[in-house]
Amino acid sequence: MAIATMTTPLPISLFPFLLLIPAICFTVCHANSNLLCIQSEREALLKFKNHLIDPSNRLSSWVEGGDCCEWTGVVCHNSTGHVNQLHLAAPLSEPDGFATNAEMEAYYNSRLGGKINPSLLELKHLSSLDLSYNDFNSIHIPKFFGLLESLTYLNLCRAQFQGAIPHNLGNLSKLQYLDLGGNNLKSKTLQWVSGLSSLQYLDLSYADLHTANDWVQVTLKLPSLLELHFSRCSLDNDPSSINVNSSKSLVVLDLFRNRFSSVPKWIFSLHGLVSIDLSGNSLEGPIPDYFGNISFLEVLDLSWNHLNSSIPNSLYSLNRLQFLSLRDTQLQGPISKIN
Ligand SMILES: *[C@@H]1O[C@H](CO)[C@@H](O)[C@H](O)[C@H]1NC(C)=O
Ligand SMILES: *[C@@H]1O[C@H](CO)[C@@H](O)[C@H](O)[C@H]1NC(C)=O
Ligand SMILES: *[C@@H]1O[C@H](CO)[C@@H](O)[C@H](O)[C@H]1NC(C)=O
Ligand SMILES: *[C@@H]1O[C@H](CO)[C@@H](O)[C@H](O)[C@H]1NC(C)=O
Repeated sequence: MAIATMTTPLPISLFPFLLLIPAICFTVCHANSNLLCIQSEREALLKFKNHLIDPSNRLSSWVEGGDCCEWTGVVCHNSTGHVNQLHLAAPLSEPDGFATNAEMEAYYNSRLGGKINPSLLELKHLSSLDLSYNDFNSIHIPKFFGLLESLTYLNLCRAQFQGAIPHNLGNLSKLQYLDLGGNNLKSKTLQWVSGLSSLQYLDLSYADLHTANDWVQVTLKLPSLLELHFSRCSLDNDPSSINVNSSKSLVVLDLFRNRFSSVPKWIFSLHGLVSIDLSGNSLEGPIPDYFGNISFLEVLDLSWNHLNSSIPNSLYSLNRLQFLSLRDTQLQGPISKIN
């Protein structure tokens, strides 16, 4: 049609408009030819959205007929178009005590809530799911998450989940990163964790694990585990965990605010450890000499304990140590010059 009009003289005012036609067409046609989104996955995402509560309309780009690969928080595989990642963490961090009412309201509204629909199972290639910092209002972690078998990353940190952790999360054998910290969860045993053979990062902070006497045996057997965060988990000294096979991989051990009355012996055979946090426990007596065995240690936090006596010489042999906190303990005596 454009060509036909070209042959007749043009009114001057139409001319710029005609020049625009190829530009418009290029944009639209280009977008269409690039439409990656797979129909069934778009439907699944829309169903998932329909069960969510989204007070600030964060998911306004999620509409019927759109290219779901362009939607907020959705990442598709760049050639197959399968939805690979869902980044739906709340975008605002919790305001401090000086925040205005408007800031507080914006923060609360930025959090997604409601129900998590199993339509997510349609996303067969989903490798990363981040729902952290939302407000799911004390629902349980959905059992069907254990069927999202492509997941390598699952982050549900501080998203107001509660109740027993579903053991079938242990079926996620590709999972490398699991953060369930900051929720009101519990688990009577950690046997299920033994199925997470690819796990590198595990955070169960705030979960009640006080009956999970197998936690040391299970976690130290994970072949790739680098970081373990079990703060505020009501853990205490467990006689059954004295003889455990040590983990060669563990680098970070965070046991902040548990109930240990002495430093667990197995810690001293974790020769790869770089950072240990045992602050806020009930450690008594002198600091064990054996810390000198962990020769790569860079960070050691023993603050907020009942440790007494003096600083053992073995700590001075840790020549990579950069941070040592002994505040709020009953330690006495001189501090030697550190070389
Ligand atoms: C597609 O993704 C792969 C790996 O994620 C990357 O190496 C490649 O460069 C990407 N291709 C394009 C066209 O973006
Ligand atoms: C430690 O590992 C050895 C060999 O892998 C095994 O025979 C032994 O039973 C393990 N001990 C414990 C306490 O798990
Ligand atoms: C610390 O290392 C020494 C020397 O290698 C070893 O004999 C001892 O058993 C180790 N202590 C602990 C608690 O692992
Ligand atoms: C250190 O604490 C232990 C256990 O609470 C106590 O038995 C011991 O007498 C204390 N030692 C010193 C030097 O205060």
